[in-house]
Amino acid sequence: MNYQNIAVTREENLAFVTFNRPKVLNALSYDTMVELSAAIDELGSDPNVRCIVLTGAGEKAFVAGADINELRAIPDAARGAEFAAWGQAILFKMENLSKPFIAAINGYALGGGCELAMACDIRIAADTARLGQPEINLGLIPGYGGTQRLPRLVGKGRAKWLILSGDMISAQEALRIGLVDMVVPAAELMNKARELARKIASKGPLAVAYAKSCVNVGAEVDLVTACAYEASHFGLACGTEDRIEGTTAFLEKRPARFQGK
Ligand code: CAA
Repeated sequence: MNYQNIAVTREENLAFVTFNRPKVLNALSYDTMVELSAAIDELGSDPNVRCIVLTGAGEKAFVAGADINELRAIPDAARGAEFAAWGQAILFKMENLSKPFIAAINGYALGGGCELAMACDIRIAADTARLGQPEINLGLIPGYGGTQRLPRLVGKGRAKWLILSGDMISAQEALRIGLVDMVVPAAELMNKARELARKIASKGPLAVAYAKSCVNVGAEVDLVTACAYEASHFGLACGTEDRIEGTTAFLEKRPARFQGK
């Protein structure tokens, strides 16, 4: 696909998806979401890509939410529900992909931008970033999973505080409440994201996929069911050549060479 609203670049076995509408703080238009969906398909089916980093173009914003011009034009309740379900499906596709996503939050992550970051596996924020769910200020509520993923990350009380007040919080505050996982100086953000992505990409991709799935699926079911799911995936990992390679390499005191088999 010829991307206009995002940029997709590759470095060895990493991919970078950059939201690229800096004049509107990388707001998620319909076309941007279509391109994001296509990029997930493209990168998901490329065996050379092991980890995907999302970030925003420019210094000001990761993504400042859904495009408010388009939200203004939604004609009725039914079309609003369709809009939300469609966006949610794209974020589910990221969450369910076997490859990890890292959000490198370089500035504002608001509304749909915060929701996008929350659908990633790991969130690293620049110390200058600001996060929030300001939809309430527009007479709206979050529609890309924010009312559900935010309480799962930070607890119901803090989620309601952010969603009902529309307050924006600093990266440090987001770290304190568990909305992001790391905060680094802005100048070091991409290097930190790249370093972590490279580390993950060096592991066995099947083990990475099983681990991601176990954490995601397990968080939504009871503990006994979750542990059964983990046991079955531990079994799947035991059935791989990568398990033989990883354990042998440890015993032979050499780096493992994982093949994804
Ligand atoms: N949609 C469309 N345009 C947007 C936008 C958005 N979400 N966010 C910013 N812009 C545009 C502004 O209209 C402005 O355009 P012009 O230059 O043509 O006037 C440009 O980007 C720069 O923005 P500001 O001048 O407002 O920049 P600022 O530094 O004064 O403020 C900001 C920055 C606080 C992030 C402010 O832009 C803002 O509040 N943006 C909206 C954030 C928001 O409400 N997001 C939630 C959207 S709803 C949603 O996402 C629903 C969902 O769950 C899917």
